[in-house]
Amino acid sequence: VTCDLLITGAKGLVQVRESHYGPVAGKAMDELPVMPDAWISVSNGRISGYGPMSGMPSFNAKKKIDAQGRFVFPSFVDSHTHLVFAASREEEFEMKIKGLSYQEIAKRGGGILNSARKLREASEESLIEATLQRAKEIITSGTGAVEIKSGYGLTLESELKMLRVARKVGELSPLTVRTTFLGAHAVPDGMSRPHYVKQLTEEMIPAVGESGLADYIDVFCEEGFFSPEETIAIANRGKEFGMKPRIHANQLARSGGVQAAVACGAVSADHLEQMGDEEIEALKSSDVMPTALPGAAFFLGLPYPPARRMISEGLPLAIASDFNPGSCPTGNMPLMLSLACIAMKLTPAEAFNASTLNTALTLGLEREMGSITRGKLANLIITRPAPSVTHLPYAFGSPMADTVILKGSIVTAS
Ligand code: NIG
Ligand code: FE
Repeated sequence: VTCDLLITGAKGLVQVRESHYGPVAGKAMDELPVMPDAWISVSNGRISGYGPMSGMPSFNAKKKIDAQGRFVFPSFVDSHTHLVFAASREEEFEMKIKGLSYQEIAKRGGGILNSARKLREASEESLIEATLQRAKEIITSGTGAVEIKSGYGLTLESELKMLRVARKVGELSPLTVRTTFLGAHAVPDGMSRPHYVKQLTEEMIPAVGESGLADYIDVFCEEGFFSPEETIAIANRGKEFGMKPRIHANQLARSGGVQAAVACGAVSADHLEQMGDEEIEALKSSDVMPTALPGAAFFLGLPYPPARRMISEGLPLAIASDFNPGSCPTGNMPLMLSLACIAMKLTPAEAFNASTLNTALTLGLEREMGSITRGKLANLIITRPAPSVTHLPYAFGSPMADTVILKGSIVTAS
């Protein structure tokens, strides 16, 4: 048999699925199929075969890697990031340490509007360079696909600039990129909310839609940001231009974000730090993917989503990073998994399903990635030596990936 790349001697192929393209929900989230002592082959950038070492056919491989007892995982799919930004915001970090809340910092000229001022001044070239650097960082930690939102522009021109940068990063890096228009991230300085909502629905959404630069539309549904009614109107307008909604919901308060996400048929409702019975019932009656962003809850000192309860009620759960300068200045997915296990009491199996198959589904990438499946893209992590799968989220803060392979090519190697 010929192939481009052959990996032998894997301690286990993790998340091996003959075929699986739907959400992983409820009890099934705790099932993580592992094929022990195995090989895997890659051809034309895709997984061409795998099986136990005992029955390995003889291969004519262009390149071989001996995994030497390491695990092989599918790469992570990070379904929520704000990867394009001009500058970090560590000055707010100090304010937070001294006790100011996210909302108080925003009132003092920090927050999203601070990032928006900096982004408007930044050149497209400098943004591409900074974002590529972050792309490299998340690839090294095992991410293979990423959703990138705009939302620090808040004018048509700057929002389009962000979306062009995101698309460009998808061309220049081996990451698979999906883009989201988040013009409704905050109301720009000196404008009334009704006026901005009108501008969004009448001018910005049609222009972004026609540009083809955004795959999805997002709204920060929150007290002091956008109301559920505005969220639904903005999301529905986005749908008219081919952008499916994914919603920032229930981060700071039970402000109706989850119900708004359900009402507009969003692919996901993200954050969910503030949840009650009604929100959970609403999710159960829908196909909206509940998405936890444990890095942001950790960084802001917020409560974590009631993940155990959601899963025990049969819901699926996704986990993403929310990489952004204000509430989660890292996109390290292995760290997000550790936080999910430690703070949200997810099992390692649940955390891996949440950050591979379930996130892939929300980005329409379920036929391309999220599991080790014949025909899917060869987006693979060869881990550092570890005695078990559980060891990886247990050893929080330690790098998980030794070698990362994206679309069949080795992109990092130790
Ligand atoms: O997902 N909540 C809104 N947006 C981001 C934070 C943005 C910022 O502070 O720059 C989030 O946490
Ligand atoms: Fe976010």
